Amino acid sequence: MNKNLSIKFISFVNSTLKLNIMKKIVFLGLLLTTVVLSKAQEFFKPEKMVETGVYYYPEAWNPDQWDRDLKKMADMGFEFTHVAEFAWAQMEPTEGNYDFKWLDKVLELASNHNLKVIMCTPSATAPVWLVRKYPEVLIEKSDGQFANHGTRTHCSWSSPKYREMVSKLVTAMAQHFGNDKRVWGWQIDNEPSHYGTYDYNPAAQEKFRIWLQKKYKTIDNLNNAWGTAFWSGIYSDFSQIDIPVSSQLIAGAASLISIVDFKRFSADECAGFISMQYNTLRQNISKSQFVTSNFMHEHADVDPWRNKDLDFISYTMYPVAGYSKGVGNQGFRLGDPWRISWANDFFRPLKGITGVMELQPGQVNWGLYNPQPYPGAVRAWLWNAFAGGLDFICSYRFRQPLFGSEQFHYGMVGTDGVTELTGGKQYSQFMKDIRELRKLYKPNIAMPTEYAARKTALLFNPDNIWETDIQKQTYQWNEFGHITRYYSNLKSLSIPVDIVGEDRDLSAYPVVIAPAYQMVDRELVTKWKKYVENGGNLILSCRTGLKDRNGHFPEAAWADAISNLIGARITMYDEMSAETTANVSFNGETYNWNVWGDIVEPNKDTETWAIYADQFYAGRASVVHRKLGKGTVTYIGTHTKDGKFEKEVLKKVYNTAGINTDEQPEGVMLNWRDGFWVAINYSSVKVNINIPKNAKIIFGSAELDIAGVVVWQ
Ligand code: GAL
Repeated sequence: MNKNLSIKFISFVNSTLKLNIMKKIVFLGLLLTTVVLSKAQEFFKPEKMVETGVYYYPEAWNPDQWDRDLKKMADMGFEFTHVAEFAWAQMEPTEGNYDFKWLDKVLELASNHNLKVIMCTPSATAPVWLVRKYPEVLIEKSDGQFANHGTRTHCSWSSPKYREMVSKLVTAMAQHFGNDKRVWGWQIDNEPSHYGTYDYNPAAQEKFRIWLQKKYKTIDNLNNAWGTAFWSGIYSDFSQIDIPVSSQLIAGAASLISIVDFKRFSADECAGFISMQYNTLRQNISKSQFVTSNFMHEHADVDPWRNKDLDFISYTMYPVAGYSKGVGNQGFRLGDPWRISWANDFFRPLKGITGVMELQPGQVNWGLYNPQPYPGAVRAWLWNAFAGGLDFICSYRFRQPLFGSEQFHYGMVGTDGVTELTGGKQYSQFMKDIRELRKLYKPNIAMPTEYAARKTALLFNPDNIWETDIQKQTYQWNEFGHITRYYSNLKSLSIPVDIVGEDRDLSAYPVVIAPAYQMVDRELVTKWKKYVENGGNLILSCRTGLKDRNGHFPEAAWADAISNLIGARITMYDEMSAETTANVSFNGETYNWNVWGDIVEPNKDTETWAIYADQFYAGRASVVHRKLGKGTVTYIGTHTKDGKFEKEVLKKVYNTAGINTDEQPEGVMLNWRDGFWVAINYSSVKVNINIPKNAKIIFGSAELDIAGVVVWQ
């Protein structure tokens, strides 16, 4: 966590404007640190910085091999293991008969080898006796077909029976292991989500109606919010409402907000299910055991931040599975440079603590295609996780499986159970290096002043993704892609970022960015305005402020909600096909675009920073900037082909605010934690980076090979 990230906003820059904001940062940083530090230290020792572990499935291996495997783990340098997240059938072979003896044995062996244990609740894999006896627990699909035994995540979060059965098992586990010192902490469920399947189980339908009733109180309110006057959609009673079927969950097929509401409801159901397990555990386990859950790192239909009651949220991460092109011709073996950093910065700020619960060990089995990661890539990912302030890293998985759905998935060791695979060797190296690094650890090292002065908050609300992705307006729009483009540009300028929700106090951040933030309300815009008036620098990008929280356009001029704030009107927007190229000019350069362009008309006192270079609106503004109170607002109206334009504009925003940035070669990620700088090369060529002359290099060198890592103090 950011034990250290937070302590140290001790900088100061010259103007009063910055002084003010920085004073606040120091104060808030210290305040936050105290709260967050004490919580983190209950579970993690700061001087260890990061602890590394690995998944193990004792239930799948001959018990005669358990000791050998656990010893091997410890010999490789692992400090903890992770068990039981899919072992419901083994823990409760028949209803109400619990068998934890085998797990006791695993704990004993693990502890003999000094391995701590993360114990998991196996709610993702209900056993066959349960679904046969209580078929009502199964997920129902849109076409009326029910899920069936033999897979995972096949039960409905909304089913009272399923919740009851989970709660009974979790209680029994908590009573058995809750005061066992060998258990370090708990993971609830596994990657809570239904992997894209929507649940139409009657219990889910009923709970959706109750959720709507609670939200809207009257059916008229719902009709207004959902805009049911369109296409004769009017309801006269909540009982008439069904979850939108799959053919409606696409653009233009149903009331937009009915779909967004369904997604909000599903995310709430998931969070409620996790919460139920959290409370059950907490009633029975020791305070010293942490409780978390491992969410997928990319935004799906689940919203990890809804789980505010967990001690912290953690994430799972697979950078190379045929989906990411990365940078250059070997990028597909390294993954997108921003991906692990995004997860670090998304999961950490909620509680100031996070870890990666599953990190890719090597080749996987479920990708589009499954290339070998570039030699050294696994080690690079490990350092990237470390650099983001994580408290622990856990690899998925120790042994390559011999049967089951994931046979081709690498482990730390191969099919013979003993030979270290390439990823395993890289883990060993990393853990060895971390042990060296711990010797250099000093508590409470202040974040370097210049770095702290760049601290940026990226505002995120899943509603914008749920809403905009249904009504894209151009096939080229990808809301998450737009957001992460800004994020990755920030990271390439060596900017520390927290991804935060609207409830966060923004005054601690010299810069705040809200990319394509389509849904707003007056309260949020007022918050932004105050932030700027008090000295903050706000950046908004195209599509921001177009709609209210119900996805309606207000009965007002286009983007009226933010016009006063940005000091400009958005007169229209344009978009083209991927084959067309239009141009936008900034600082004497032109950049290609075709995805989205807002044509902006600045007020008298607003500066124009970039203009369209062609089309029938040539010469009109694309980017505008203004001062407001003690701060600034910049509006970037164009989404370009490759994002280089956006990066140049970002640089100017920071420079104008007197904040320096440190641009890295393409594909290089630079982060600081606990007094250590870590640079990683995700590109497909060797690069040289700037390392201060007085720096002490601990591992690597300024010449970074592909997948190279350099660590310095
Ligand atoms: C994860 C999942 C694990 C395992 C892994 C394989 O997404 O949580 O249970 O399936 O993928 O890469």
